[in-house]
Amino acid sequence: MSKKNETLCSSPCVEERRTLLKAALGIGVGLLGWKTSRTLAWSGEPLPRRGDLLVHAVGDRYGTVVSVEDLPPGGPPILAYPMDPRSKTIKAERMDSLILVLRFSSNELADEVRRHSADGVIAYSAICTHAGCPVNGWVADKRLLRCPCHRGLFDPRRGGMVVSGPPPRRLALLPLRLERQNLIVAGRFIGTIGPLSRSV
Ligand code: FES
Repeated sequence: MSKKNETLCSSPCVEERRTLLKAALGIGVGLLGWKTSRTLAWSGEPLPRRGDLLVHAVGDRYGTVVSVEDLPPGGPPILAYPMDPRSKTIKAERMDSLILVLRFSSNELADEVRRHSADGVIAYSAICTHAGCPVNGWVADKRLLRCPCHRGLFDPRRGGMVVSGPPPRRLALLPLRLERQNLIVAGRFIGTIGPLSRSV
């Protein structure tokens, strides 16, 4: 099996990031509205945590809880952050907390993806495994996620696997569950967030 399309690990294998990762590549605002010029840190405990709610990360609805109805069937994705449901703290200060959320029909999803979905809703780390840019593009006719930095393409229905471009690994998958139509984090990331190299 190629390195690019490695099987999703069944147990948490997220790497804790201990260094600053700069996404300052001057790309500007991506299709999903998140600025790639932001500079955020990898540090501390892995984010998000089981039980966190997902909230909108951009636009007028920033900080409001993401519900299934917010997600257009078949894409595009929205960008979200985890939020502690008790303290209402939005975990927006770290690169590894930026999440892509998409909605498909469950029968469109690969088995390994469906297992970690919530009624067809799936979530991935938005951090590209190549050089750490936020994956904030969407190819509507192919329903693929696109990284703006070096045109890496990922297939969200097949576990975030790499379709083309330089990324060496699939995007990390975040297990979800539903509670009153709100999306809840059901476990730690499956896969490695971002590049293995800690700098861009
Ligand atoms: S950083 Fe995403 S393709 Fe290079």
